[in-house]
Amino acid sequence: MENLFAARLDEIPFSGIRKVFAKIRKMEVEGRDVIHWEIGRTDFDTPEHIKKAAIDALNRGEVHYAPNLGILPLRKAIAQRTEIDTGIAVDGETQVIVMSGANEGILASILAFVNPGDEVLVTDPNWHHYKAITRIAGGVPVEIPTYAEDNFAIKPEEVEQRITDKTKMLCITSPGNPTGCVQSKENLEALAEIAIRHNLIVISDEIYARIYYGEGKVAPSIFSIPGMAERTVIINGFSKIYSMDGWRLGWTVASAELTQCILKIRQYTTVCVNTFIQHGATAALTGDQTCVENMVQEFSRRRDIVMQGLQEIPDVKVPDSSGAFYLFPDISAYGLTAKEMADYLIDEYGIATVAGSVFGAHGEGHIRIAYSCSTEECARGVAVLKRALAALREKKG
Ligand SMILES: Cc1ncc(COP(=O)(O)O)c(C=O)c1O
Repeated sequence: MENLFAARLDEIPFSGIRKVFAKIRKMEVEGRDVIHWEIGRTDFDTPEHIKKAAIDALNRGEVHYAPNLGILPLRKAIAQRTEIDTGIAVDGETQVIVMSGANEGILASILAFVNPGDEVLVTDPNWHHYKAITRIAGGVPVEIPTYAEDNFAIKPEEVEQRITDKTKMLCITSPGNPTGCVQSKENLEALAEIAIRHNLIVISDEIYARIYYGEGKVAPSIFSIPGMAERTVIINGFSKIYSMDGWRLGWTVASAELTQCILKIRQYTTVCVNTFIQHGATAALTGDQTCVENMVQEFSRRRDIVMQGLQEIPDVKVPDSSGAFYLFPDISAYGLTAKEMADYLIDEYGIATVAGSVFGAHGEGHIRIAYSCSTEECARGVAVLKRALAALREKKG
């Protein structure tokens, strides 16, 4: 059988996060109580008015293929949302594609712009899909190290040093997964200058942009910087901000020219997104946004609880995360690797986290805590974590 497998399979690993999920499922079947800090999804239900709009569309008979780009009212709503968030005018007719999750947007964009052998700059640590999809496209991921002491800011000089004549693309995720850290406007300006000078396409993953605890309601976007709208593909979606991860709905926003390139790929991937769920998504963007404000406030409360708890534990350092629902504490002082720590916490104390090393070599020494579970579970998690680390300190003497 082995000769039948495509060589690209050797280039990509099974996701380290999926392995954690499998372990937890087994523990829960065995009746063990688990604190769910591992999963990057919200614990909220999709708001009622969004579900109702999808159900109404289904009942109306919206059951046939949608246009490859997505239904026009949704594309217009996405364009309007992008204008509010970035201050740049976007044409819903020509610059938006509705995708089956942000993930399809990343896949289609990388396939549209990366030739075999092209180099794609991705940060380390980062959400591991960028590296894997680059490999699937035959490209070469080139990692830009980022550091906890800089709150994982992407340093322009680290980017510059890694640019060769094969560099095609720079991928930015802000707020970041796994760190929750946000790239400042000044930093994005410096990165934009490099992208323009070296003629790079920029993928700007903004799926967490509205889960932001800094000034204003949205994290800064590189799309807003002069000269960048024509070379940036925004990746965004409904999974996080409207609690719609199971709906599989996202989008790309780019210039009309880049959008045509991405569309060429998309017409052969999923063809289009389910028609009736696009009507639900339209209601999400055009309806009352109080549901979003409430959810972000709740995340902010949970962040404070977990952040404060971590700051009270000796020898744990926490980078200043101001977005998404992740904290990425440095636990290296305890003398265990990230994987050993994550295994210890789940095996001995039922706290599920993800080892930072899953997200790249510079995630070593950290664990990712996703505080997207209930407030009560966050508070309980902090108490159990304190006990778990006190026991380790005692063992060390
Ligand atoms: C940074 C980042 N981008 C994209 C995605 C994928 O989102 P979607 O559910 O829309 O495919 C995730 C999901 O965890 C993510 O963390």
